Amino acid sequence: MLLETHAAEIETILAKYPQKRSAVLPLLYIAQDEYGHLTKDAIREVASILDLPYTDVFEIVGFYTLFYNRPMGRWVLQVCDDVPCCYLGAEEVISGLKRRLGIEEEQTTPDGMFTLQRVKCVAACNKAPVLQANLNYIYNLSDDKLDALLRDLRAQAESGQKLSISGRLAEDYDATPEGLRQIVRDLGSISQEVAAIKAQVASETAKTESEAPAAESDAEKSE
Ligand code: FES
Repeated sequence: MLLETHAAEIETILAKYPQKRSAVLPLLYIAQDEYGHLTKDAIREVASILDLPYTDVFEIVGFYTLFYNRPMGRWVLQVCDDVPCCYLGAEEVISGLKRRLGIEEEQTTPDGMFTLQRVKCVAACNKAPVLQANLNYIYNLSDDKLDALLRDLRAQAESGQKLSISGRLAEDYDATPEGLRQIVRDLGSISQEVAAIKAQVASETAKTESEAPAAESDAEKSE
């Protein structure tokens, strides 16, 4: 339950708005990250926290393309195919990803790791061609960088590191033939806000993990 796993983060978000209903988008992002996509139960949970009718929240999920009401890969790869990216090789990137992953657009790999999508301009044309992986920007792609890109993303997912399909933890990366190289953002106060969210996510993850063994042993005792 989100009120147990993300209590502090939800409290912080709710405190920002005079009316609870205004927090619907950030709470849906939390739910999507927690459950992988927005199931009916997840939508019901958010509606209940905000005292909103289920149908109001359901309609919001249907309206925004970055809310997923169906299972997605742990990494959602969105390749920009708008004009500047196309001139610099977006189609080669898309076909290279399809070939390596063995999927078509809007499909997910059988292991649930990657979903591939086409999107329009993501406002980074000066570093085309561009792909977003869970909204992490990955710049200057080309076919010869895709093996390293997929290897690094897979390694992140398998390391147990928390991924945010909603992009709440997104960063900027340059693609290189050797792998991803992070670019440090300078966004002033936004950077501080992102750092605060990351700290909250890390502390709540650690708390949930430390409570898990105790819950398991309680369950064992009662058997
Ligand atoms: S055209 Fe691809 S980022 Fe603008």
